[in-house]
Amino acid sequence: MPSDSGQDAGLRVAYAVVEVYPYLKTGGLADVSAALPPALRKQGIDARLVVPDLPAFSGVVSHRERVQILGPAFGASEVAVARARLPDSDVPIYLIEAAELFDRPGNPYVDENGIEYADNHRRFALFGWAVARFADGDWRPDIVHAHDWHAGLVPAWLASIPGPRPASIFTIHNLAYQGLVPAAQVPELGLPSRFHDVDGIEYHGGASFMKAGIYFADALTTVSPTYAQEIQSTTGGMGLEGLLSSRSSDLIGILNGVDPELWNPATDRLLEVNYDANRLHLKAQNKVVLQSQFGLRADLNAPLCIAISRLIEQKGIDVLLDVVPDIVDAGAQLLVLGSGDQRLEARLTRCTEDYPGQVAAYIGYDDGLSHQMFGGGDLIIVPSRFEPCGLTQLYGLRYATLPIVTPVGGLADTVVDADQTTTPPESGNGFVTRGPAGTDLRSTLTRAFDRYHDATRYHQLQQNAMSADFSWTRAAEQYAELYRRLRRESI
Ligand code: ADP
Ligand code: GLC
Repeated sequence: MPSDSGQDAGLRVAYAVVEVYPYLKTGGLADVSAALPPALRKQGIDARLVVPDLPAFSGVVSHRERVQILGPAFGASEVAVARARLPDSDVPIYLIEAAELFDRPGNPYVDENGIEYADNHRRFALFGWAVARFADGDWRPDIVHAHDWHAGLVPAWLASIPGPRPASIFTIHNLAYQGLVPAAQVPELGLPSRFHDVDGIEYHGGASFMKAGIYFADALTTVSPTYAQEIQSTTGGMGLEGLLSSRSSDLIGILNGVDPELWNPATDRLLEVNYDANRLHLKAQNKVVLQSQFGLRADLNAPLCIAISRLIEQKGIDVLLDVVPDIVDAGAQLLVLGSGDQRLEARLTRCTEDYPGQVAAYIGYDDGLSHQMFGGGDLIIVPSRFEPCGLTQLYGLRYATLPIVTPVGGLADTVVDADQTTTPPESGNGFVTRGPAGTDLRSTLTRAFDRYHDATRYHQLQQNAMSADFSWTRAAEQYAELYRRLRRESI
């Protein structure tokens, strides 16, 4: 339980989100919602999760107890809120029950053929409405913290409540997914018609869940300081830069952290051999296992590059595939774990056929394999076109698998180039391209491979990488400060 002492005593935060690791994950959002609420509770904040009652959650919770009946709404015959417990967690969870809309297995946004559900606008409008009603129930949060477009209508519904209401925070994890609604479907969102205005949820005649969150929330955050700047520009704002710039003083970037219990090479049970900064030589044993498992040449001197990613344009996977011949020519190896765009999957498969023994891939999603790859890889390549925060470079740093990244978003905020001259040279922890995705990956790889073969200097970079502090405690302190400020302002 949160402590009752200290300045955060009694501060109540409802954390509205769709994904929570390990129950439901399509990306880094799930990692964040698994780690941040417990980190907030350690600060004495009473943080509680509010999620749609998807099978991934209903299948694992215990002690389910209905606390609010909200009646029929949005095409669901009955909407209710149930309180429950997650296994091995002290974070209370509330489930928004609406069987007709949420009781669908698998991915929360698309059907088994990868097609978006036609009623997503109603499903997530219901979620926003129900979270706002929940906040007006028996347990009253001071702050409702909503995440990504799925929860974008939460701040709008809260703004529709007359009289005292909780303050709202909207966190942008990725501006590329906006939840756009065609004009004909806008009435189905259920909001009062005055909300469908340029000063509101209206977007090119239709509506945007993302815009709604940005427009109506009392405070805005995103997941790195650099991304907070990028999204206010024409190149990074994805059509919302004007609104975001107008809210500049309410927008801050707070870097995500790393869950030290899940991501620690000294204790990670998924690794063949555990290691830490003092026993780095043991890391090579994980490399041997990976090379043998994937038919890569058994060669400890060959730098083993890995990539673990959704295979989509954002992630610059095409740029990575362009440089595969260079990786191979340099005597290095590449192992990719990911799935997504079918054309990229096919190109990747062709590369593995063209370069057996040097390029391998697992097309699919595999959490255990991802850990083994962080444990056994030498370098992790993250050539994203944009990256709000990015987690794989952070996991790479923890596991001394040095990141090679483009200088965007959270990648720019967390990776310090080994050859930079602006800060002390000994602060380097990876390699940063000197231009955007697609311009300089080749020469950056060359620099990384040269450094790899210079054992002493490479070892120093690995030490720097492992000692970097990306704890959730630091992030939770920043969120706590924001919550406190909002609570003061709303009194
Ligand atoms: P995004 O959320 O944009 O996909 P992040 O870097 O924030 O990017 O988070 C991706 C998360 O998903 C990381 O935890 C990464 O390890 C994991 N991941 C991505 N692809 C796979 C995969 N194919 N198998 C296992 N884990 C994956
Ligand atoms: C999004 C972003 C990613 C970020 C994650 C968690 O999926 O694409 O960069 O790390 O959210 O905040």
